[in-house]
This record gives sequence, C-alpha cells and structure tokens, in this order.
Amino acid sequence: MALLPILHYPDERLHTVATPIAEVDDGVRQLAADMAETMYEAPGIGLAATQVNAHRQLIVIDISEAHDQLITLINPRIVVASEERAVYEEGCLSVPGIFDEVERAARVTVEALDLQGRIQRIEAEGLLSVCIQHEMDHLKGIVFVEYLSRLKRSRIAAKLRKQQQQKVL
Ligand code: NI
Repeated sequence: MALLPILHYPDERLHTVATPIAEVDDGVRQLAADMAETMYEAPGIGLAATQVNAHRQLIVIDISEAHDQLITLINPRIVVASEERAVYEEGCLSVPGIFDEVERAARVTVEALDLQGRIQRIEAEGLLSVCIQHEMDHLKGIVFVEYLSRLKRSRIAAKLRKQQQQKVL
C-alpha cells in the first residue's frame, strides 16, 4: 500500500478524460487499494483516479464514519438520474479549503464493475448520490468549481496558487 500524491486545482491534468478499464487485474486492485489508503489518510469520502494522475475509470468512496463501507466503482455509468434536484455544499481533496453549493440530481442509480470484475448496481440518494456524481465528474475532467461563477472560480484558482507557492518555502 502507498499514499499517492493528489493533484490540486488548477492543475491542468485534472481536466484529463479517464479511459475505461479493459480488465480488472492486480494492477487495478493495487491502484484501488492505494487510492483508498490515500482517501482515508487525507481524510476524504471519495477519490477518483484522475486526482492521483491515473487516468482510468476508477473511483473509491466511503461515506461511513467508521471507514468500513468502502465502495469501488470501475467504469461507472449512471443508468437512472432523478428529475428532482438537490443542492449540497461540496468540497474536494483537489480544491483544499474551498466549499460551495452545487446542484445535482437528487438520486442516481449507477452501474459499475467491482474489484472482481462483476457488475454492481447501486441506488444512491443524499450524500452518496452527491459523492458518486462528484467523483464521476472527475473522470470526465470536471472539477466541482467549474459549476461556480467565473468570478468565484478565478478567486479560488488564485487562492490555491498562492497556497501552493507558500508550501514551497
Ligand atoms: Ni473531488
């Protein structure tokens, strides 16, 4: 197991579109294990492979307090999204210290492969629904701040660039 470095907005690599995983092999399982360790350590409730500069369709999520309900989604696709929308104040490990409201489908049903390459189907609402949609956006190269106004986005980018420069000192 290893901790992986997380890319921070406005890093251009966060806008890479992830490719589907053709075979769920030991390499994929190792990446998923490293991503889970990285997510728990951060700490966060979700991490997409894009955020650790691995541009494959792989997501780990655990919204439980006890960190004992890990979900791994490989090649996820949303098969049902509710008409009803919900607003949630989101944050992101790639946008540290920034939280803002994003509107998404209130409920989604997602199909994905698990770590054994079997199809799993998850019906999600509330925080899990938000998290799945947020992480799936990462695989498309979308960071949640892109739903905010241009002004907010440029302020966030400036703030994060400054934070990143300060870390170097
Ligand atoms: Ni994120």
